[in-house]
Amino acid sequence: MEKNNLTNRTGAPISDNQNILTAGSRGPALLQDVWFLEKMAHFDREVIPERRMHAKGSGAYGIFKVTHDITKYTKAHLFSEIGKETPLFIRFSTVAGERGAADAERDIRGFALKFYTEEGNWDLVGNNTPVFFLRDPLKFPDLNHAVKRDPRTNMRSADNNWDFWTLLPESLHQVTITMSDRGLPKSYRHMDGFGSHTYSFISHEQKRYWVKFHFKTQQGIENLTNEEAKMIVAEDRESHQRDLYENIENGNFPTWKMYIQVMEEADANTYHINPFDLTKVWPHGDYPMIPVGEFTLNRNPSNYFAEVEQAAFNPATIVPGVGFSPDKMLQGRLFSYGDTQRYRLGVNHHQIPVNAPKCPYMAYHRDGAMRTDGNYGSQIAYEPNSFSQWQEQPAYQEPPLALSGSADHWDHRVDDDYFSQPGNLFRLMSDTQKQALFNNTADAVGGAQEFIQIRHVRNCYKADPHYGKGVAKALGLSWDTVCNFEGYDMKRMTDMN
Ligand code: HEM
Repeated sequence: MEKNNLTNRTGAPISDNQNILTAGSRGPALLQDVWFLEKMAHFDREVIPERRMHAKGSGAYGIFKVTHDITKYTKAHLFSEIGKETPLFIRFSTVAGERGAADAERDIRGFALKFYTEEGNWDLVGNNTPVFFLRDPLKFPDLNHAVKRDPRTNMRSADNNWDFWTLLPESLHQVTITMSDRGLPKSYRHMDGFGSHTYSFISHEQKRYWVKFHFKTQQGIENLTNEEAKMIVAEDRESHQRDLYENIENGNFPTWKMYIQVMEEADANTYHINPFDLTKVWPHGDYPMIPVGEFTLNRNPSNYFAEVEQAAFNPATIVPGVGFSPDKMLQGRLFSYGDTQRYRLGVNHHQIPVNAPKCPYMAYHRDGAMRTDGNYGSQIAYEPNSFSQWQEQPAYQEPPLALSGSADHWDHRVDDDYFSQPGNLFRLMSDTQKQALFNNTADAVGGAQEFIQIRHVRNCYKADPHYGKGVAKALGLSWDTVCNFEGYDMKRMTDMN
């Protein structure tokens, strides 16, 4: 058969793709028009659930290359020698908007990497910010209900969004970044990436280190003002997708340099900051940035649905030499991603080519909907077995992690230092950046009720008096009102002492 001939899904020729089959030229359609039925039935199922978060995104392929030796910290194969190259896939995203949302919105950006290593895939599913709004994963569904659409109006709600954020003062660090000039990147090429959580490295000597991952854009940081973004969105809702796609298509390949911060395992017990608190950074003065390598994006996907929409990144997907940490948020994510992907894409989503490892995989998982890889043929499906098939590999066991304490719903609020790091960040800003922070905050929280605005101003004041006063001024709130407000739910207002 000629390759340009149209066929149905089982390969038979299609004689007419313009006219349905009817009884007479004006008569009703016939049930035996099976091509029409097949085409329509497939079309009816074209949409899969969008990602619950980060629904709008752009993907690209690239290569990671090691430039510095970090083998004393990790035995991970992808870092084994300088010059070693590992293929990868990245998906950038915005967070709160749906699949059709405009790109140039003030929001966090997702920065999800999938390294196809020789010892399995490693997914580092991070953001363009080093911290997050929360410390406890139990609050993650609430965060999303607060920032997504209101159940009655079906519109985004400044009240819901800021009521929630201001009641969780641990979110102020992330809120400050989001409202700063960096909260609205010009494109995905012009922002840094972070693993954000603390992970662990396991060395060849079976020693554990705590580690944070950083990716520095080599295109330079560039951001948009709210006004610039409004103009862009009016003309182009796909500005980030267009920028990434066209630059790669034109051979202008974007690059990021990778760095790590490394902490001795025992330091976690004595360091003055809880290193597993995702609302805090490790100051670079204490834990300097160590160069590791760089990655370059050099190929666009050829089919968006197959390769980007069906991509599944999961923080639980790690390789020997990389491990988790007790960060509660990370622990929560270890369940959520695989769970949502089994719902969004199906139990065999690891076989979709963009997700499949480039090395052999032998997991004994069998059957399930949409099994497409031969299902391990006639191999036996149990372990232990007497035939030396697919045995566990104890050499890869992690060193034991010492734990202590009683099982309880531990209240993370015993550490109530919500404000020193956002204050430090504020004090690092130039006057122009501070003014942008005030204005962007006022633009966003200005749509919420006054008591919520005041609660936010009080939180900002705790971080730095000038921060609170600047936001109050941009909101047109008198300082007297901020200090003496006695309205709604005073118990939950930040006190001013
Ligand atoms: C996407 C849950 C925190 C970065 C998602 C998705 C879920 C989710 C359900 C959709 C996944 C899919 O459909 O494939 C959670 C939970 C969190 C959490 C329960 C906290 C307890 C974070 C944090 C970061 C992050 C802290 C960054 C440091 C991302 C990214 C994506 C994503 C980048 C998009 C991945 C892609 O491009 O496919 N998250 N998330 N999330 N999340 Fe989270």
